[in-house]
Amino acid sequence: MKSLILLVSLAGLVYAHGYVQEITLGSTKYSGYLPYSDPYYNPVPERIVRQIPGNGPVTDVSLIDVQCNGWTEGNYSTAPAPIYGTVAAGGSVALNWTAWPDSHVGPIVTYMAKAPSDITKWSPGTSAVWFKVAEAGKSADGTWAATDGLYATNSVYTFKIPSALQAGQYIIRHEIIALHSAFAYPGAQFYPSCIQVEVTGSGTKLPTSFVSFPGAYTASTPGIVYDVYTNTSSYPIPGPAVWSG
Ligand SMILES: *[C@@H]1O[C@H](CO)[C@@H](O)[C@H](O)[C@H]1NC(C)=O
Ligand SMILES: *[C@@H]1O[C@H](CO)[C@@H](O)[C@H](O)[C@H]1NC(C)=O
Ligand SMILES: *[C@@H]1O[C@H](CO)[C@@H](O)[C@H](O)[C@H]1NC(C)=O
Repeated sequence: MKSLILLVSLAGLVYAHGYVQEITLGSTKYSGYLPYSDPYYNPVPERIVRQIPGNGPVTDVSLIDVQCNGWTEGNYSTAPAPIYGTVAAGGSVALNWTAWPDSHVGPIVTYMAKAPSDITKWSPGTSAVWFKVAEAGKSADGTWAATDGLYATNSVYTFKIPSALQAGQYIIRHEIIALHSAFAYPGAQFYPSCIQVEVTGSGTKLPTSFVSFPGAYTASTPGIVYDVYTNTSSYPIPGPAVWSG
């Protein structure tokens, strides 16, 4: 019995990572997709976030799972959510993470992709449609966005929708990359989630270069392998430069 309890609590520790539990678009709050309660309701609550299987990471960057989190066999990564939120171009998006473990240092990286039509029916698959809108990594003093940064802001990470961004429906792909085991590949842990929004306003711009997920990250992309315990140099956040409009 004791060993069973120990096993269960060890499993709890191993999988105690995190996900976005609440999103504030401008001043409107939306619940995140809550993987430990939503599936047990009938009907399942409608969320603006695509389903995730739990609070665990994706580690294989070649899988579709790295796009919106999930496991390939369950098709979680590709299933759109039934609704979307609304935010003005130039408006703020605040992402409230569950308690984040202090060993899980790493960057916080955010991308967007414009839906060609109804976002509640669109899955990008492996198309190159993503552009980076925000990133935060390791500061000069050695502190990290995903631990120190979140702790300083009550676990809420905030970025702004580029103010010139064309109106329309978008997926926001927001992730923490935990680097505590990233001294070799596979090792870095990806915690992405995909939030569906309609961007309003009179913006007209879109970037001209895009990446795909999977595709943007490989074992040799700078920042995917990095030894956080010994490397005192700056940390190269993976992926393209931020597009700010
Ligand atoms: C996943 O999607 C494929 C293609 O749409 C489908 O054939 C398969 O049955 C789905 N698997 C599950 C577990 O839903
Ligand atoms: C984050 O979300 C949780 C759960 O909804 C809530 O209890 C908490 O107050 C939120 N934190 C902030 C800073 O809004
Ligand atoms: C530190 O990380 C940088 C960026 O990934 C890398 O170029 C450099 O070789 C690393 N330094 C050491 C000593 O491993």
